[in-house]
Amino acid sequence: MPGSTKLRYGGDYNPEQWDRATWLQDIDLMRRAGINLVSVGIFSWGLLEPREGEYDFSFLDEILGLLHEAGIDVDLGTPTAAPPAWFWKKYPQARVVTREGVTLGHGSRGMGSPSSAEYRRAAAGITSALAKRYADHPAVVMWHVHNEYGAPVSECYSEQSVLAFREWLQRRYGSLDGLNAAWGTTFWSQQYREWDEVDAPRLSASIVNPAQRLDFKRFSSDALLESFVMERDILRAATPHLPVTTNFMATNCPSVDYWKWAREVDVVANDYYLVAEREDNHVLAAMDSDFTRSIAGNRPWMLMEHSTSAVNWQPRNIAKRPGELARNSLSSVARGSDAVLFFQFRASRYGAEKFHSAMLPHAGETSRVWREVEALGAVLQGIEEVRGSRVEARVALLWDVESFWAQDLEWRPSVELDHRERIEAYYSALWRRGVTVDFAHPSADLSGYDLVLAPALYLVDATSSANLEDYVAAGGNIVVSYFSGIVNENDAVPAGPFPGGLRTVLGLSIEEFLPFREKETASLSSGATARSWADDIVLGTAEAEATHLDGRAEGRAAITRNALGAGTAWYVATKLEGDDLGAFLDTVLERSGVAVGPVPAAGLEVVRREAPDATYTFLLNHSEQEASYDVAGTDLVTGETVDTAVVPAAGVRILRTDRNGADATSAGAR
Ligand code: GLA
Repeated sequence: MPGSTKLRYGGDYNPEQWDRATWLQDIDLMRRAGINLVSVGIFSWGLLEPREGEYDFSFLDEILGLLHEAGIDVDLGTPTAAPPAWFWKKYPQARVVTREGVTLGHGSRGMGSPSSAEYRRAAAGITSALAKRYADHPAVVMWHVHNEYGAPVSECYSEQSVLAFREWLQRRYGSLDGLNAAWGTTFWSQQYREWDEVDAPRLSASIVNPAQRLDFKRFSSDALLESFVMERDILRAATPHLPVTTNFMATNCPSVDYWKWAREVDVVANDYYLVAEREDNHVLAAMDSDFTRSIAGNRPWMLMEHSTSAVNWQPRNIAKRPGELARNSLSSVARGSDAVLFFQFRASRYGAEKFHSAMLPHAGETSRVWREVEALGAVLQGIEEVRGSRVEARVALLWDVESFWAQDLEWRPSVELDHRERIEAYYSALWRRGVTVDFAHPSADLSGYDLVLAPALYLVDATSSANLEDYVAAGGNIVVSYFSGIVNENDAVPAGPFPGGLRTVLGLSIEEFLPFREKETASLSSGATARSWADDIVLGTAEAEATHLDGRAEGRAAITRNALGAGTAWYVATKLEGDDLGAFLDTVLERSGVAVGPVPAAGLEVVRREAPDATYTFLLNHSEQEASYDVAGTDLVTGETVDTAVVPAAGVRILRTDRNGADATSAGAR
């Protein structure tokens, strides 16, 4: 991690909300907890530039000096996610306009329109001033640009955005003929003959051209990215020695294409907050970490924010139970993070986030949360040697945000088509089997994986469909779930039957979709229950592995298998749940040669990080019962040597197994 030989520990720190005496207490407490990195200044623009072009760095000078004296490093924020009041007064044209035509006010946070020249100029100004002032400050070890690009709003329909959208379209299509062809504008009389006839896809009388909607989503992600790159380049020029990052929201930001974004940061950093209401929220957290590691190219990444306990913005802000804070943090370390940071160090007394948990809650240092924060700091010091080790996965799950953008547009064949639901279902089944997955883009090199899963791949372009065919032909194994391969990159149906781009790899075609009524089910010859969806499949080279025994698709294939070259492609034409999905995946894992140990006890998360000389096995027990797992090794925290690790209810164990010592791969559940 930047500037350190240690796992990073800390959080967002907002000293502008406190007096100097509190800063001294804070720093003392940070040292006690083993905190070595804090993110400062993220929301300080109003203090740092009280009037346009006038800077006052006194507070930041002082707090950075105190932190440095205490040996605490700083991830310095550019404060561009919350422009000051003078900015909004002087440049009202920079305000974001929503799709409904509402111009958003201020008094909150939220950047100006990313396409606003005034916003960009102001953001560049404060960024340059910070870069100049702190280029050689010994406390500053990295830059934290902005905050969560894409939140709270990602699309802007202002006049400046429309102009920027047209320029983006000109670059993409070259000519209006190209745009008319890509958008299929002969439909509903939409032909464009002048560029200034092209608008953002505003709310309209009926549904707006889906290709236009999709391009506006691409444009909006790119416009935000341009804002980031503009700040990053200022920082890189001034401080080439310091890494630059911004905090992502991985699987939870539906408006940004992180495969593209991750290439632009020096280190991938991510924020993750539990879906408190869900009993399986630790599985979703693991999924988010695996996605983050994957966009980081399997290099170590940073958990930049999570919460010690409840947040303040969910319908029910449920507090974490004892031990949950450490399990959540260490699950991200198990899945490749070399940093554990929280939002935020000290709970705010005023403003919108006063009910949000913190490392140091309102209840202070005698609280359970603070004790758990101190204990976690000690654990991280005990496991420092895992830093830099890698997670290795044999299974990849395909994730293409463009496909999700397109699938989520209006007028689809069933309201039950939900890409996120299918991805969670397949991921969760593998999590329960202790199988770690990477995420991959469908056009990526997949040759390193024994098995590739495509639970939701509605949009497939020619590059991706050729890539998937090549992967299978060369001996790969793929599982594709229903409503995949339906459209190309313009949300248009390729010529011929569904699933256009996947017909060859799957060896079948679909005459008609047969969505179910609500709660309707059907029986399959495999014994499984079909829900929600069926296709009227015409088999080509594929063979049926399971057929519908009854219902609207009676006699039709429900699960098929196609041999292509040296590999195999399965198609699952219905919604399988629970044990039915698990049993199917067991078969596929076995036939794909993926080594799976015995299934871990219910609620036991098992993940490994690999170093050249050792395997680190993380055992995180999310259940209320003690669990055992056969793994020979040394407990990094207690020093105890075991042949079988007993993990207390709600507890964690991290074991080191030397590569030339006990065989870590024979590990299994008991
Ligand atoms: C986000 C933001 C933080 C804070 C937290 C609260 O992650 O980046 O500034 O608002 O949410 O959960």
